[in-house]
Amino acid sequence: MKFICLTLLLISGITDSRSEQFDVVGPADPVFVVAGEDVTLPCSVKPNISVVDMRVEWFRPDLKDSQLVHLYKDHEDRNTDQIQFYRGRTKLIHQELQRGNASLKLSSVQVSDEGLYRCFIQSKSWYDDATVDVRLEAVGSPPVITVDGFDHSERLHLQCQSEGWDSEPVLEWLNSEGVSLSSETTEVQRNTDGFSVKHTITVHHRADKIHCRVKLRRHMLETMIVTSSKSFNPWRTSIILSSIAVALIVIAGILIAAFGHKYKEYDKQQNKNRGKKQEHDQLQTEISRKQEEHDQLQEEKDRKQQQYNELLQNENKKIAQEHNQLQEEKQRIQEERARLQDMNKQINQDYLGTYTGTSNHLPVVERVGLHIIKFVRDSMQARTNQQGKKTKK
Ligand SMILES: *[C@@H]1O[C@H](CO)[C@@H](O)[C@H](O)[C@H]1NC(C)=O
Ligand SMILES: *[C@@H]1O[C@H](CO)[C@@H](O)[C@H](O)[C@H]1NC(C)=O
Repeated sequence: MKFICLTLLLISGITDSRSEQFDVVGPADPVFVVAGEDVTLPCSVKPNISVVDMRVEWFRPDLKDSQLVHLYKDHEDRNTDQIQFYRGRTKLIHQELQRGNASLKLSSVQVSDEGLYRCFIQSKSWYDDATVDVRLEAVGSPPVITVDGFDHSERLHLQCQSEGWDSEPVLEWLNSEGVSLSSETTEVQRNTDGFSVKHTITVHHRADKIHCRVKLRRHMLETMIVTSSKSFNPWRTSIILSSIAVALIVIAGILIAAFGHKYKEYDKQQNKNRGKKQEHDQLQTEISRKQEEHDQLQEEKDRKQQQYNELLQNENKKIAQEHNQLQEEKQRIQEERARLQDMNKQINQDYLGTYTGTSNHLPVVERVGLHIIKFVRDSMQARTNQQGKKTKK
C-alpha cells in the first residue's frame, strides 16, 4: 500500500514537473526598427502556458554594467534597477502573460536601443531564454521618376531612383492594373548614406499610370507617373518647360551670385568712396587753409603796396620840392647873372663913356689900352651877335 502510494506520488510528481517544462521562443530573424517608432520584441513560451506566476526578465547581454531592460516578478513590474534610458518606455501586457506571451513593447525607439535583448523566463522548477536581435532600420527616400527621353517610335524612357536604405531594397515597376513590368536596367550602389537603387524602363506610349515601388521588409514607398495618350507634344512641352525652369533656376542662381558679387563690389566701391570723400574733405580743408594764407599774403601785399605808395609819394613830393627849390635857385642864379651882366654893361658904359669923351686928354698908353679894350668889346659883341643869329637859325 505504501509502495503504491509512493509510486503514485512519484508519477504525479513527474507529470507535474513535465507540465512545468517549456521552451522560450523568440523571432528567428532580427527585428528592424525605425528610430522614433514603437516596436514589439516578440517572446513567448511553448507550450502556451501562463507565465503570470513566473519571473520574466528582459535584459541586454551586450551591455557591460547595468543590463536590466524590464523585470516582472511576484505578479508585478519591478523596474527600479532598470537602465536609465529605458525608463518609462517598456511595457509587458499582463493579459498576454496568461497566454504565454511575454513580448516586450518598446516605445519611441532610440539609436541606443539597437543591440541584443534576452527574454528570460523562470518558473519554480524550470527556466529558458531566447535572444532578440534589434537593428535600427534606415528607410530610404521616396522614389523619384525621371523622364529620361522619348524616341521616334513613341516610346518613353523612364528612370526610377531611391536612396538611403540600410540594405538593398526591392524596386519594381507596375502598370495601372498592378501588373509588374520588368526593368530594362538595374543599378545598386552602396555608399556612406546606405544603399541606393536605380532602374530604367521603356514604356510604349499610351494613357497609363506607371508606378515605381521600393520595398524593404515592412517598408514600402511608391511614386506614380501619368502618361498621356496625346501625341508626344505634351511630353515635349513638359520637358521644354522643365528645361526652361532649370534654365531659369540657373539664371536666377547666376543673378543671385552676380548680385552678391556686385553688392560686394558696391560695398568695396562705397568704402573706396568713403576714403575718397575723406581725402576730398582733407583737400578741402587744405584749400581753405591755403586760401586763408593767400588772403593774409594779399593783405600783406596791399599793406606793403600802400606803404610803398606812400613812400613813393613822399619821395616824389620831396624830390618835387627839391626840384622847385633848385628851380628857384636856378632862377635866382639867372637873375643874379642878368643883374651881374647889367652891372657889367653899366660898368662898361660908364667906363667907356668916361674914356671916349676925354680920350684926347689921356696919355698915349692909356689911349692904346683904350683901343684894345674897345676892340675886345667889339669883337665880343660881334661874337654874341653871331651866336644870337646861330640860335635864331
Ligand atoms: C494555446 O494555443 C492553443 C492553439 O495553439 C489555443 O487553442 C489555446 O487557447 C491557447 N491557450 C491559451 C491559454 O491561450
Ligand atoms: C503578444 O503580445 C503582443 C503585445 O504585447 C502582441 O502584439 C502580439 O500579437 C502577441 N503575440 C501573440 C502570438 O499573440
